[in-house]
Amino acid sequence: MNNIYSIGITGIGSYIPEKIVTNKDLTKIVDTSDKWIVERTGIKERRITDDQTSTSDIATIAAKNALKDGEILPEELDLILVATVTPDMAFPSTACIVQDNIGAVNAAAFDISVGCSGFIYGLSVGSNFIKAGAYKKVLVIGAETLSKIVNWEDRNTCILFGDGAGACVLERCKEGSGFLSFDLGSDGSDGHLLTQPAGGSRLPASYETVSNNLHTIKMDGREVFKFAVRIMEKTSIEVLNKANLSLGEIDFLVPHQANIRIIQSARKKLKLTEDKVYVNLDKYGNLSSASIPVALDEAYRKGLLKNGKVILLVAFGAGLTWGSTLLKWNK
Ligand code: UT7
Repeated sequence: MNNIYSIGITGIGSYIPEKIVTNKDLTKIVDTSDKWIVERTGIKERRITDDQTSTSDIATIAAKNALKDGEILPEELDLILVATVTPDMAFPSTACIVQDNIGAVNAAAFDISVGCSGFIYGLSVGSNFIKAGAYKKVLVIGAETLSKIVNWEDRNTCILFGDGAGACVLERCKEGSGFLSFDLGSDGSDGHLLTQPAGGSRLPASYETVSNNLHTIKMDGREVFKFAVRIMEKTSIEVLNKANLSLGEIDFLVPHQANIRIIQSARKKLKLTEDKVYVNLDKYGNLSSASIPVALDEAYRKGLLKNGKVILLVAFGAGLTWGSTLLKWNK
C-alpha cells in the first residue's frame, strides 16, 4: 500500500442535487433549532434527491463530469469502483448500473462498502490495480443518497446527512506526484456504533423491521465523535510517516465533512491554519463516501489545489473504518 508513486487524478467531477433543506425546514419536523445544529455540527443546509432519483443516477452525472474534465472516453475505462452505503439495491452493484449508463463497455465494475471512508479505500484499490499493471484507467466514485435511509423523525441523525456524488479518474502520472501513501484501517468491534440494522441477511425486510424503523441509520453520535477525533489524527500521522513527510509538509487538508468540531480538532492537531482546510459541510451536511470527492472537486474548481502541493485526504466512518492518503496534486 505504501510508496504508491506516479498514479494520480487526471479527471474530476461531482454533482449535488438542487433541492435544499435548511435547518429551519427541519424544525418543522423534529424538535431542533438552527442554533443547535449550527453550533454542534456547523451544518446550515443540505441537498436531497427527489423520489425518482437514485444513487446510480447522481453517480452517473458525477462520472460524466469527471470523464469530461479528464477528456477521457467511457470505453477507455478499465474499472469502475463505486463507494456507497446507499446502493440502488443489494444487487446488481451500483457500479454495474453506472457502467451501463455511461457506456463503459470495457470496464469491470464493483461496489465498495466502507461507510464514509469508502472513497479513500476506492482510491487505494484503484491505484493498486494500476500499480500492478492490471489496468490503466480507473474511475472511482463516491455517491450517496442518505436522505433515503435517514429516519426523518430522529433528530440525532436526520439533521446530519445529505445527498451528493463525486468522481475521479486515476491514471499513471508524472513520477513523484500523485498518491504518495495510503493508510487504511478498520475496527469491527465498534461497528455497532453506526449501522443500518435491517435489510440484510441478519434482519431481512419484514413488517416488523419496517414498522420499527430498522432500515434507517442508527448512530451513537457521542462515541463516533470521540473515535473520529482520535482516528483523524492517528491516520494522518501514519500516512505522513509512510510517505516520509512531516507535519509541516501538508499544504492543504480535505477532510471528511461530518462535523465542524471534528474538522477543527484535526486541523489544530495537524497545525494547519483555517485557510489550509476545505470545508463545505455548511452547505451539504455529511455526504458519507461522497464528501471527499465533492469537496476535492470544489477546491479544484476554486483554484485552491496548486500543482506540486501536498494534499491530505482523511476520512472515518461506519465499520468502524478510517483511511487517509497524501496526494501531490499534478493535473
Ligand atoms: O460520518 C460519520 C458519521 N457520523 C458522525 O461523524 C457523527 C459524529 N458525532 C457528532 O457529530 C455529534 O455527536 C452529534 C452532532 C451527532 C451530536 O452532538 P453532541 O454534541 O455529541 O450531542 P449529544 O449527542 O451529546 O447530545 C446533547 C444533547 C442531548 O440532550 P440531553 O440528553 O443533553 O438532554 C440530545 O438529546 O442534545 C440533544 N440533541 C439535540 N438537540 C437539538 C441531539 N440532537 C439534537 C438536535 N437538536 N438535532
